[in-house]
Amino acid sequence: MTVFDRSERLIWAGRSADYAASFARLCAHTVPQLLDAAGVVAGTRLLDVGTGPGTVAVAGRARGASVTAVDADPGMVDMAARAVPDADVRVGILPELPFADGTFDAVTANFVVNHVGRPREALTELRRVLRPGGRIALTIWAAPPAPGQALMGRALRAGGAVRPPHLPAGLAPEDDFPRDESGLTALLDAGGLRDAACETLRWNHRVGAEEWWSGPAAGVAHVGALLSSQTPEVRAEVRRQYDLLGAEFTTPDGLLGLPHAALLARARH
Ligand SMILES: C[S@@+](CC[C@H](N)C(=O)[O-])C[C@H]1O[C@@H](n2cnc3c(N)ncnc32)[C@H](O)[C@@H]1O
Repeated sequence: MTVFDRSERLIWAGRSADYAASFARLCAHTVPQLLDAAGVVAGTRLLDVGTGPGTVAVAGRARGASVTAVDADPGMVDMAARAVPDADVRVGILPELPFADGTFDAVTANFVVNHVGRPREALTELRRVLRPGGRIALTIWAAPPAPGQALMGRALRAGGAVRPPHLPAGLAPEDDFPRDESGLTALLDAGGLRDAACETLRWNHRVGAEEWWSGPAAGVAHVGALLSSQTPEVRAEVRRQYDLLGAEFTTPDGLLGLPHAALLARARH
């Protein structure tokens, strides 16, 4: 396990409810296109990896797929198991999944590969559990981030937040890849997948300022880990900067309209 993976385990531990109440709605945006890209229809044997609260698993089940779902975090697994009672939901941690070769027709991973320490190994493993000809679809965030996605990072910098030594800035350079369409396509190629293709999905996430703040304030995701490791004074200043910078994105109805960009990739075994 890499330093990055160890940090991820801590970031998600005990945060399933806070994630479900904040960033989960943002991540849900890509689910219909993700399932289309993976060819999920009635009867598909679908594996959703990094299922979190089970958003993709629920949507896959609604299409009539036979759903298996895993997550690295036991709290997420409990939540997903409640959301999809007739699915097989268990702990499973990339880059090693508890399934035999060729078990699934389709594999999905919605905003998960951006949370693993060794993405190439993760892709090789996702391919391993697909049957020959089976389809994989995954999303990650594009980098540099779209303006709405950059808001919290800007507030942290403007507020004087300092990265604590236990929080890695990112992947080891030899494990990293460009977070653009060609970089993600090349990652799927390197994982041994065929016919890899990638597109960029752009949308405005409409969200109240308090809801958007609530995830990081509860320690959710990397921005949350960074925010919660600051002194109370710095946290208060980050909040002040967040309110100031948020004005750029405030729409007439009082909500924030936050432009986001995600990469959606698809390929075959
Ligand atoms: C941003 S959330 C996405 C959750 C869900 N896919 C969704 O669309 O809402 C990332 C999820 O990936 C899980 N995760 C992180 N690293 C993982 C790994 N190495 N293997 C499996 N799951 C992992 C986290 O526990 C978390 O639930």
